[in-house]
Amino acid sequence: MASESFFTDDNIEVMFDAETLQARIVELGAAIARDYQDDADDLVLIGILKGCFVFLADLVRAVDLPLAVDFIGLSSYGDSTESSGVVRLTTDVSKSIEGRHVLVVEDIVDTGLTMNYLLENLRTRGPKSVKLCSLLEKPDKNTSGIKIDYLGFSIPDKFVIGYGLDYAERYRNLPYVGVLKSTDG
Ligand code: PRP
Repeated sequence: MASESFFTDDNIEVMFDAETLQARIVELGAAIARDYQDDADDLVLIGILKGCFVFLADLVRAVDLPLAVDFIGLSSYGDSTESSGVVRLTTDVSKSIEGRHVLVVEDIVDTGLTMNYLLENLRTRGPKSVKLCSLLEKPDKNTSGIKIDYLGFSIPDKFVIGYGLDYAERYRNLPYVGVLKSTDG
């Protein structure tokens, strides 16, 4: 490790600190609670593994409704920093989504290829509705026409890490979103 603290490594530039993330998540949670207040019994938040796990954990605690949580495992990047465009379903939901209001929770919409595949797939399963909440979006790269119903932040086309997002499976545990200045080390 280059410096004494992994979290405050000189090679990482902070983009959104923990406080900024939490403040935005409280706003997103309040908007979701307001919009689904009459449908809460049928509401399921589906987190997309693995990147969602930190964001989802904070988001559900900001939504004051009796919601359900499930997960789908998808992988498109492998250990590369570029999307391969090939999406693999590695884990499916544990309970049918037929007749339920689905809110997909993602860490980032980059090219939109992953969501393009997943939202199509979910819509064939008879849900009452399917919406998308993503912490981050790269609007310059999202050319798939994916509409994000609840968005945390729009970001430039930089490879971001932390708060669930990885580089070769590292950095998911950073309490903030950052950018690696160099991937050499
Ligand atoms: C990341 C991210 C999204 C996807 C976005 O997942 O969590 O699911 O890439 O990219 P796209 O919009 O270009 O399709 P990744 O495949 O890195 O897996 P992970 O969540 O396990 O890190």
